[in-house]
Amino acid sequence: MKKTLAGVTTLVAGMCWVAMAAQNPTPKAGAAAGGSVERGRYLVENVAMCGECHSPRDAEGQLDHSRWLQGAPMWFTPTVMQPDWAFRAPALAGLPSFTDSDMEMILEKGLQPDGRAIRPPMHVFHMNAEDTAAIIAYLRSLPPNKQQ
Ligand code: HEC
Repeated sequence: MKKTLAGVTTLVAGMCWVAMAAQNPTPKAGAAAGGSVERGRYLVENVAMCGECHSPRDAEGQLDHSRWLQGAPMWFTPTVMQPDWAFRAPALAGLPSFTDSDMEMILEKGLQPDGRAIRPPMHVFHMNAEDTAAIIAYLRSLPPNKQQ
């Protein structure tokens, strides 16, 4: 129950993101080309909470910061059956598996690189180009998981 509630909180946080992004749609001119790592870190860690799903947890269910954004099994399940629910969130540290245009499709349009809709619980974010560029810059600045 606790886990389900936390999951719902995470989902609500994601939805708030969509509302906030919609209220602030105007990026600073030229910023999208070379995204700001610091802004990306802020968005990932404090606003969109990507690490809640994309980082592994320890036996107590706490985020394992030594494996930050290195991909993880989903730790909560939907209360209502969802046939397309994804049970694993892929590694994002170093962005080993996604190009910049993949990331734009995913974060700005909610589409997988092959054009299909992304699966829950990954959010459809509708981010603007500046925020996407910042998140790409931050994720590329992280060391990838050497074991993968
Ligand atoms: C509520 C949990 C959750 C949050 C928060 C979340 N993700 Fe995800 N994400 C997932 C899951 C689960 C998948 C796997 C979806 C699939 O396999 O179709 C995924 C998939 C992805 C993918 C690959 C998409 C694909 O289908 O190829 C990328 C890239 C990604 N997430 C980036 C992010 C970023 C960046 C953030 C923060 C801005 C974020 N995610 C926040 C759960 C989450």
